[in-house]
Order: sequence, then structure tokens, then C-alpha cells
Amino acid sequence: MNGNHIVCECNGTTAAQIERAVQEGARSFEEVQEKLHIGKQCIKCKELAKLLIESFVEDMEEQ
Ligand code: FES
Repeated sequence: MNGNHIVCECNGTTAAQIERAVQEGARSFEEVQEKLHIGKQCIKCKELAKLLIESFVEDMEEQ
């Protein structure tokens, strides 16, 4: 997925911003939500955001 892809339309939050939140220490949807305020309105981004966070966390743990 392109880093510029908007994951949370309500906030305009991109995949790259979510990746950065994981690099800065967030390890779960709830932790990313706390930092970026995603998934607090219509929550339709929640499933995609969760999948992305899981895959970014895996990438981090492989390094
Ligand atoms: S798209 Fe994320 S809360 Fe609406």
C-alpha cells in the first residue's frame, strides 16, 4: 500500500502516519488510536487499520 493512502477518512490519516506511530512504539490499534485519533468517528477504518498495524508491528519485530 502506498504510504499516502488515506486509511482514516474522518481524520485524513495516512498509512505512513500509522507506520510512524508503530515505529514510535504503538503496538495495538488502541495505542495507535490514542496517538492519531483514528477510528473514533465512523470506525469504518478500524479493520484496515488493525491489519496495517499488525503488519507494521511484524516488520518492526523482524528487524
Ligand atoms: S474513517 Fe476512521 S473514523 Fe471514520
